[in-house]
Amino acid sequence: MSGASPTFDLRGVSKIYQTRGRHGPSVTALNDISFTVNEGDSTAIVGESGSGKSTLSRLLLALEAPTSGSVRYRDEVISGRDERQLRDLRRRVQIVFQVPMSSLDPRMKVHDLLAEPLRALKIEVDEGERVRELLQSVEMPTSAANRYAHQFSGGQRQRIAIARALGPSPEVLIADEPVSALDVSVRAQILNLLTGLVCDYHLTLVFISHDMAVVRHLCDSIVVLYRGNLVETGRTEELFASPREDYTKELLAAAPQIRAARVARTRKGREGEPRSA
Ligand SMILES: Nc1ncnc2c1ncn2[C@@H]1O[C@H](COP(=O)(O)OP(=O)(O)OP(=O)(O)O)[C@@H](O)[C@H]1O
Ligand SMILES: [Mg+2]
Repeated sequence: MSGASPTFDLRGVSKIYQTRGRHGPSVTALNDISFTVNEGDSTAIVGESGSGKSTLSRLLLALEAPTSGSVRYRDEVISGRDERQLRDLRRRVQIVFQVPMSSLDPRMKVHDLLAEPLRALKIEVDEGERVRELLQSVEMPTSAANRYAHQFSGGQRQRIAIARALGPSPEVLIADEPVSALDVSVRAQILNLLTGLVCDYHLTLVFISHDMAVVRHLCDSIVVLYRGNLVETGRTEELFASPREDYTKELLAAAPQIRAARVARTRKGREGEPRSA
């Protein structure tokens, strides 16, 4: 591990949702979570449904503030800041969601879907050129720019969503279950694309997943959540070799090994090919 300051540093972070008003029942989505995300690492956030993974991603994006504790991005506390103070962060940290259609407006052409974040963030570039570049980086034909997202398959839409996230040249990419809504046959392709992009653009990846087999192949370190609590965190190989907690052992035991083998094979096959810039 380098001595540089971490990309994200969470200290004692809790998030409590008050449902049905101030005196209604509350849900503790995250409970006293502390961990760091190191620059250039791919960090997995794993845990069953409802364990707080997406809540955590919203705190990293500063879309929500923690109820208590602090979230730092590099040396700055981002929790509880106003939009003006967060402008820089809005460019540096991007997200890709599970269901690409929910983040892609069906009335917009792909060109506008990719250009929109650039305009919103006032990034001065030749739009046409940047859109072509982005489409190439996700291995889509540049002619896709003139079509609508609904004219593409699920896997292609996820490529468009990834291109859109890459537009502002982020430092961090958060991927919240980026392949779980996709057909099994295209999952490995999208995962390989992500792996290549992380490498080419030196991205710090926060990878939210249920799938321990995929996490094992993609991520350098793992954060295990269970019902809002941090169960265990560590380097991937150490955690797989000697999980300390029973919950982690259960997760690992449930990992589908066959899929892992397939991702590894596809990835290996691709390594010999030159990647488009
Ligand atoms: N805005 C909200 N208001 C109330 N409760 C919420 C809100 N967002 C999340 N929760 C609750 O917080 C807990 C954690 O939810 P979260 O969506 O972070 O889980 P998750 O790990 O992403 O689950 P999944 O794997 O199903 O996506 C759940 O109990 C959820 O119902
Ligand atoms: Mg979620």
